[in-house]
This record gives sequence, structure tokens and C-alpha cells, in this order.
Amino acid sequence: MLTITCASLSGGQGKSTVSLFLGRVLARLGYSVLMVDADPQSSLTFYLGHDVEPSQPTLLEVLKKQVKVEDGIYELSHSNMWIIPSDEGLDSVQDFLASSGMGAVVLKKRLSEVADLFTFCIIDSPPQRSQICLTAVGAADAVLIPAEASSKGLNSLIRFLELTKELTDVDAFTGTLLGVIPFRERRFGKNQAIQSVKSLEGMREAAQDIPILPAIPESEQYKKALDSGVTLAELGYPHLEVPFLKVVELLKEKCLHKMPSAG
Ligand SMILES: Nc1ncnc2c1ncn2[C@@H]1O[C@H](COP(=O)(O)OP(=O)(O)OP(=O)(O)O)[C@@H](O)[C@H]1O
Ligand SMILES: [Mg+2]
Repeated sequence: MLTITCASLSGGQGKSTVSLFLGRVLARLGYSVLMVDADPQSSLTFYLGHDVEPSQPTLLEVLKKQVKVEDGIYELSHSNMWIIPSDEGLDSVQDFLASSGMGAVVLKKRLSEVADLFTFCIIDSPPQRSQICLTAVGAADAVLIPAEASSKGLNSLIRFLELTKELTDVDAFTGTLLGVIPFRERRFGKNQAIQSVKSLEGMREAAQDIPILPAIPESEQYKKALDSGVTLAELGYPHLEVPFLKVVELLKEKCLHKMPSAG
């Protein structure tokens, strides 16, 4: 199983959107995909149309080792996709992770128990530098960094890159920084808006040798695809899937040795 975490340190950067569409593209290509919602806001759980019953285990119980990992995994109606969901109760895991002394490796360890069952695992993370964020990044073989094409997005990227350096220094992150995905790039006709141009320049400088992937343009169609549960291609906008197809290409290039074939 190859684990990809979508992470950034600000809200609204496109983490949940990228997690969802990448997961769907991989599932459509025939790979089995485990989606992990590591955000107490539970957007990904909602986007995937999964209802959490109060009595059912979620990521909270999985992290706390109160259940077997398999017992926190639910099959989704979309073929080839499964989920470890979250709800707002996940917030209460922060103290547990902080006091365990090894918070950054807890999720990685738990997921290793089901590594033979799935080809890919995609983790959506919360927007703050919290214990949950650290364990989500620590679990990753590859990290994708969505960043809004704005000064806020650039700032979020810079802070996240600092965090990964810190984690790498203490061996709490051993994965690859796969790429930055500019989010909500604005265009007027064929021209990029000035704010998008400037922030992308800043991102290129900050990211250095980390690839800047094709941008997700500002578009209502992503939300429409989300709400109707269909892919962008099915909605008639296959070109809007380009950023996710590029991620698949990069995964093949950079992580091939870890990437099993479609099942
Ligand atoms: N291409 C797009 N253009 C404009 N808005 C979009 C696009 N794609 C998604 N959105 C909307 O942007 C908002 C933020 O996206 P998303 O939830 O993916 O960000 P996030 O980083 O996960 O946020 P949070 O940090 O709160 O979890 C959502 O309301 C989403 O519907
Ligand atoms: Mg989110």
C-alpha cells in the first residue's frame, strides 16, 4: 500500500478536494483505495457520502487502538473505495497522541496492519499544525501540498515546508514531497489573474525542486461533481482531471518501487 497525505497549514487550500478526486481517479483506474479522514471537520467523510453512526468506530478508535483497524474501515458505494471516517469527536485524540510521545508514527503503525489489503491509502488532514496533522504527515510515503493561488496559499506552503523539514530532522517524516497543487487558479480568458501569477512565482521559489503540478482552476464544476457524486470526466469536463492524472504519473515515476499493480 502506498500512502499519500494531502496536507497544508491553512483552511480552504483544497486538501479534501484533492483527496477526493485523486481517490476517485485511482479507483477508476482499478486500484483499491483506502480513504482516511484525519480531519475532525470530516469533510472527506461527507464528500464521500458516508454516514457515521454514533456506535460505529471511526479513526478516533483506530488511533487509540480501541478496535482492530479493519473494524474502522467501511466499504463505500463507489467501487474500489473504502473509508476510515471521522467525526468531530476525533479532536479528543490530540491529548492521546501528545502523551504517547510517538504521536507522529501512530497512524503509520496502525495503517501498516492493513497494508496488504489496499493499493493506495489517501489521508486528508486538518488545517492546523496539530498532533493529528503530524501523525497524518508521518504516515505518508508521499505528500501532496495543495495551496491556494493567493498570498495566503503561498504563506501556507512556506509554513508547511518548514514543518516537513522539522519532521524530517527527527525521522518523523521519511516520505517524498510529491508536489504542490495550486488551487483555485483564476484566469480571465486565456490569461492568469495577476494574483495567481504572483503567488505561483512565489510557490516555484519556495518549493525549489519539489514539482509544481498543473493547477486546479477556479471552477464551479468541482463542487458540482462533488455534490452529484460523479467524476469530472463523467460531468463532461475531463480536462479538469489533469492535475490528478499528473499525480498518478508522478506516483508511477517516483514511487514505482512501492506501487503494486491494479487489482
Ligand atoms: N476548483 C474550485 N474552484 C472553486 N472552489 C472550489 C474548487 N474546488 C473546491 N472548491 C471549494 O473550495 C472550498 C475549500 O476546498 P476544500 O474543502 O477542499 O479545502 P480544505 O483545504 O480541505 O479545507 P479545510 O482546511 O477547511 O479542510 C470548498 O468549499 C470546495 O467546495
Ligand atoms: Mg478539508
